[in-house]
Amino acid sequence: MNLLHISDMHFGPRHWQGNNNLLLEKLNSYAADIVINTGDSTTDALEIEFEAAGSFLKSIDCQNIVSIPGNHDKRNMRSVEYFRQYIDDIEVIRPLDRDNCSKNNIFLDANVNGIKERFTDINFLKRFIIEGVSILVVCLDSSELYQDNGFVDKEILRTVSSAISKEKYDQIFLLNHHPILDTDSDPLFNSRTVIEFVIDHSIEHFFCGHSHQLSMMRSTDLYHKHSFTQYKNGSLSSANTPNDTNMFIYYKNFGSAEMGIHVVRAIVEDDSLRFKEEIITAN
Ligand SMILES: [Fe+2]
Repeated sequence: MNLLHISDMHFGPRHWQGNNNLLLEKLNSYAADIVINTGDSTTDALEIEFEAAGSFLKSIDCQNIVSIPGNHDKRNMRSVEYFRQYIDDIEVIRPLDRDNCSKNNIFLDANVNGIKERFTDINFLKRFIIEGVSILVVCLDSSELYQDNGFVDKEILRTVSSAISKEKYDQIFLLNHHPILDTDSDPLFNSRTVIEFVIDHSIEHFFCGHSHQLSMMRSTDLYHKHSFTQYKNGSLSSANTPNDTNMFIYYKNFGSAEMGIHVVRAIVEDDSLRFKEEIITAN
């Protein structure tokens, strides 16, 4: 099974000046079974930005694409509406008991005019079958409306856990925009809660983005006897910050002893793109 991991495209003012068609050509040269997009597809969660991001994602030559929202995609009270309209029309998981939710702005004021969707958290499950192996992808929304730092609601995790318990799968992946092992100046405040969720569901593979810096870290909990790897991608196409990397990751034979992790950097050169690829082996 081969995975393509992209993140932090930031369509809108923060999107890069590089040529998207050349980038798409490169992305489509990899034989991906699943494409994972770990969020911040937009800059300010405007409809026009969601539309541009959605159109880019639809041009990726893969049937199995899973995208989650990032903090930038939650800067709009219509974020859920736009996410479902332009990115993926997923079925949002609703909390078992809404009175137990403690995340800020998780429910919008019912008196706000014109907003169809008052529940703002975008958590869902996706299922894929690749070469006879069933994969359950758990997608958590680690962002609060209007905030850059992250928070995951415990009642939502309880509800997602209940949904997972009804599923049959061979492998489980977790996607979350904010990292849980290393962090930056806009961290996920209760990352420990997500780590407990990872242990509870024996999740070994965790994908994220957010900090625009590549890192791949394996954590082992000696007490619970559980290990997981955090795959943190850099930004694919956000060029306004000097440290931005403009990169994506292709995991060939993902999870196997033969896994090759291709880190592909896209360097903008006038009207063209130059790609620099390094391959890291799993062990
Ligand atoms: Fe982010």
